Amino acid sequence: MAQLLGLDLGTTGAKTLVIDDRGEVLATHTEGYPLYQPEQGWSEQNPEEWWKATLKALKSVLAKGEVDKSSIRGIGLSGQMHGSVFLDEENRVIRNPILWNDTRTSEQCREIEDTIGEDKLLNLVGNPALEGFTAPKVLWLKEKEPENYEKLETLLLPKDYIVYRLTGRLVTEKSDAAGTLLYDVRNQEWSEEICEALDIDPEILPEVLDSEDVVANVKPGIANEIGLPSDLKVVAGGADNACSAVGNGVTEEGLFLVSIGSSGVVLAHSASMETNDENRIHYFNHSVSGKWYLMGVMLSAGLSLRWFRDNFARLETQTGDLTGTNPYEFLNSEAKQVPAGSEGLVFLPYLSGERTPHQNAKARGVFFGISGTHDKRHFVRSILEGVTFGLQDSLELIKDMGIEPTQIRVTGGGAQSALWRKIQADIFGQEVVATKVDEGPAYGAALLAGVGSGTYKSINNAVDRCVTISSYDQPDSKNQKVYSELYSIYRSLYTSLENDYEKLSDYSRGRRQISG
Ligand code: XUL
Repeated sequence: MAQLLGLDLGTTGAKTLVIDDRGEVLATHTEGYPLYQPEQGWSEQNPEEWWKATLKALKSVLAKGEVDKSSIRGIGLSGQMHGSVFLDEENRVIRNPILWNDTRTSEQCREIEDTIGEDKLLNLVGNPALEGFTAPKVLWLKEKEPENYEKLETLLLPKDYIVYRLTGRLVTEKSDAAGTLLYDVRNQEWSEEICEALDIDPEILPEVLDSEDVVANVKPGIANEIGLPSDLKVVAGGADNACSAVGNGVTEEGLFLVSIGSSGVVLAHSASMETNDENRIHYFNHSVSGKWYLMGVMLSAGLSLRWFRDNFARLETQTGDLTGTNPYEFLNSEAKQVPAGSEGLVFLPYLSGERTPHQNAKARGVFFGISGTHDKRHFVRSILEGVTFGLQDSLELIKDMGIEPTQIRVTGGGAQSALWRKIQADIFGQEVVATKVDEGPAYGAALLAGVGSGTYKSINNAVDRCVTISSYDQPDSKNQKVYSELYSIYRSLYTSLENDYEKLSDYSRGRRQISG
């Protein structure tokens, strides 16, 4: 039986997974790496650390139980979107890539809007200029580090750098090209007009493939080092959100995906592209060729809970280490002891600013309504609820465009918690279902590897054969009522605080490295 490899280059680590051709997961492995925050709002990683983690994650997953290396037909890649891998003429990394959740480029975004005009931008690339996207990062390099910009020969996205290390080819594919703001999402080609207007040399942009295209066989030296077949096909893969949509079977209209990973995402499959005037939802190319998806993105979803765990849950973390239990399990059971609504404690999850719906790099997190009766359990629960309110904001924006979900599929770390799934059903006021696979992006990448290597006829064929629903959570009407009242407070808090965020930003400074 054929086996397939998926690799997701995430923000916290490289995740590998091997499946058989019926979609059963045979083995998984994750290798972490650090995230560097040399200044407030900055977020960078080191591609050499990505590469080392990738090799380790591949070796480890291949050494596991039912994996039969000689049966592996292909490897597909998925990765965090938008990060700028700047390469020089010898394909060496010039400086650490600037990541999707880095907010240093507000000035460059305004420049892009002024040069091109918001309407024209929307028309040409389907999206507004947002700090996380790649084009403003290129302008930042040009303005702030001209000596590095001088050396720039090729711009890659994070997972494409790993594709390059595996195959020696410099390419990307449509779903990741879409997140650069330099790609004409509607017509599916690099936008010469944008490049010209921003004075970015189009020669730095790599060839764009389809997600299921084979890039090349893995280089013999690497195949040898990892112990893979020398004719192993490396398949282009997709942006993590596109791959997660494939891995969760969100490849038909009406299906929505809500993902709580480091970021929080609400995504809806779309067979056509009709940009909205309000400009607050992203439009990107799907890994399913010729299709799109609409998406709202929160910058600190799982990252909010991780921040709490790292700073305020030492006991849970230490007990977890001693007993081999995931500390999030302890946090979940603490949150469960508190009623829906956290007895009036409301959390705004804007730890590193926000993208959807507020597009404000200066927004910051808030716990609102703290009283003497609140304890740690309330804080944990209010984080789960506040993040879900943020997702509800994106859900509403997509619904306002006349697109109603026939089914909401939940995924990511957040969907592994029964409590967080239930909170999602209660806040969305709709049944949520989860598929049996936790590692959506890596799973989707493995399915794409299966299409590229000829194991499946098409992406839809792969989805039909492999994706199955494993849980259903229904909303509870009492909780729903509490949440809809608190949601209106949640929404008005941002409006009340908007001016103060501006003033507060003068006081935000600091350096930090978050361990992987
Ligand atoms: C999407 C986005 C994030 C990253 C996370 O626009 O910025 O979801 O892809 O990996």
